[in-house]
Amino acid sequence: MFPISPPTEANLTSAAEKLLAGDIVAVPTETVYGLAGDATNPSAVAAIYSAKGRPSTNPLIVHVHSMDAARLWFDSSNWKAEVNEQLTAAAGLWPGPLTLVVPNPRGLAAAVTAGNHSVAIRMPSHPVFLDLLRRCGRPLAAPSANPSNYVSPTRAEHVAESNLQGLAMILDGGRCRVGLESTIVRLEFPVPTLLRRGAETVEHLREVFGEIAIDDGSGDENHSPLAAPGRMKKHYSPSKPLFIRGHSDATTATVDLEEFPATSLARISFQPLPEEERREFGWYRALSESGDLDDVARDLFDALREADRSSCRAILVDSCQRVGIGAAIMDRLQRASSR
Ligand code: TXA
Ligand code: MG
Repeated sequence: MFPISPPTEANLTSAAEKLLAGDIVAVPTETVYGLAGDATNPSAVAAIYSAKGRPSTNPLIVHVHSMDAARLWFDSSNWKAEVNEQLTAAAGLWPGPLTLVVPNPRGLAAAVTAGNHSVAIRMPSHPVFLDLLRRCGRPLAAPSANPSNYVSPTRAEHVAESNLQGLAMILDGGRCRVGLESTIVRLEFPVPTLLRRGAETVEHLREVFGEIAIDDGSGDENHSPLAAPGRMKKHYSPSKPLFIRGHSDATTATVDLEEFPATSLARISFQPLPEEERREFGWYRALSESGDLDDVARDLFDALREADRSSCRAILVDSCQRVGIGAAIMDRLQRASSR
């Protein structure tokens, strides 16, 4: 397994040196671990794509330590006033689990934006990553630090076990507080558009922006990754079939839950099951003592990875109301269950 480095002064200095030299380093964020490289360095960006096995058509998120630092990497002088107002409103949500897609990128390696006339940019709140961003004085491109299409890592150990080619270092920042990838919003006239659900909820964004359009790819199965990067219906998937309790997705299911006896199922529940029920399953884990959805989000990917490694043949997981962070949890589960 790849060694994990605690965020000591010496390791932070070394991580910044490696990044400035064009190497790629796995870093903690409050959402998921990222695979970071200098967003202005074409060979660092190429190394990110190749380590993940990521298609070159799927652009990366650029991370910065402040809104002033963000403004260096796009030109807002020709934006409509409404879009500038959206940016001002969004600034109040940084640092945090919110990525903004904005027009007119400049100064970044071309592959970061994959030829789009927009760039995705985010100020994370994890203190280790913020410290590293300040030390580097460069924007850091970072997708989630998992092989393309696998479950995102929420612990340094998840990164270590996935064997990413060319990785120079893994910085440990503990378990990610949020556990789901950031909410993505595209700023545009006349209203911003939600592209990916996350811990920054639609309900809250509606209060902040007044109005928000939703285009998160739910429902459209066959659209091309070129037209709408990163929203392929199948995404974030464990390798075993995953079933969501109370849901049957007849359009994509190639296997039936009925084919699996309970003893062959890894059961992930949102709150503890009665003893006699949990005993039926081959493997079992409850994500929260109380069913709190923030707890569920935080440990969901860890549980999916564990269930995937268990000797069970399929995974059965609870569902929840699509309200607040529950909408993001259900989005990830549906993509993970899509075969
Ligand atoms: O929480 C997160 O966002 C994590 C941490 C590391 O910050 N990063 C992350 O990156 O989830 P990634 O690469 O796994 O997902 C980035 C998503 C992709 O779906 C990509 O298509 C989309 O952002 N994206 C990037 N640039 C875009 C752009 N210019 N327009 C639309 N979507 C974009
Ligand atoms: Mg990802």
